[in-house]
Amino acid sequence: MSLTAERNVGEMLTAAGTGNALELRGVTRMFGALAALTDVTLTVKPGERRGVLGSNGAGKTTLFNCVTGDFLPTSGTIRLFGEDVTSFPPHERIRRGLRRTYQISLLFGGLSVIDNVYLACRGVSRGRFSMRRPRRSDALMQSATELIDAVHLGDVAETLVAELSYGQQRQLEIALALAGAPRFILFDEPAAGLSPTERSDLVAILTSLPRHIGYIIIEHDMDVALRVAETVSMMHNGRIFKEGLPSEIENDPEVQELYLGGGHG
Ligand SMILES: Nc1ncnc2c1ncn2[C@@H]1O[C@H](COP(=O)(O)OP(=O)(O)OP(=O)(O)O)[C@@H](O)[C@H]1O
Ligand SMILES: [Mg+2]
Repeated sequence: MSLTAERNVGEMLTAAGTGNALELRGVTRMFGALAALTDVTLTVKPGERRGVLGSNGAGKTTLFNCVTGDFLPTSGTIRLFGEDVTSFPPHERIRRGLRRTYQISLLFGGLSVIDNVYLACRGVSRGRFSMRRPRRSDALMQSATELIDAVHLGDVAETLVAELSYGQQRQLEIALALAGAPRFILFDEPAAGLSPTERSDLVAILTSLPRHIGYIIIEHDMDVALRVAETVSMMHNGRIFKEGLPSEIENDPEVQELYLGGGHG
């Protein structure tokens, strides 16, 4: 193949979104005089499962907020599937397949599990919003049911969200993030507040997500993060100071000193 032809194929592949899923270059985010992120550079491949660990206030949620567009970086660039989205509003990033879950629950408590997920599927589909009652025959209802099964909530599909356990509510949030064919998901401490059994369930849910969906999981629970993530980035004081395989991170003296030793509350 000629060089030109090779370049054309390369350009086509990039246009088709086969570059990195996420690429941050020199991202800094200031809050007044405080640097919540300093010169963060991070690359995540499509389908990759990345853990982000670090002490309280390390900048992990701020990193997510910059990726989603909830906050703009003070400097630096963010590319999503090869496209520079640095200044895109959140909905434009959602349109490109980005989803997130929050550290604190944000659900419609007065609706059933199935209605919550149905509305999420409907919200990201092309159809216009309608107040008519959902019908079980809908293709969207079928998708919602599949998502509920994927997060192990099949038995409580008709239950009101307000009546779910805290752990079940966190599982529901994952179903909402899965609505509408996501390509990349940001999970912010999904294991926080879960019982040991719920944690095992969460690990099973996250490890059995479709392989083409990449994700970053922020997690204080080292056990959960190291079982779910293929690669790990360690943050401290707004910087990524180390990246490696879970086994490398677990045995790293600097990580043990900074993260496992103190600092982490
Ligand atoms: N909206 C904001 N306004 C001002 N300061 C903020 C804001 N959001 C975060 N910060 C500050 O930025 C720093 C990083 O916060 P961030 O929430 O990103 O940390 P984190 O790693 O997610 O911590 P945690 O593990 O406690 O969730 C902290 O010092 C925090 O107080
Ligand atoms: Mg946080």
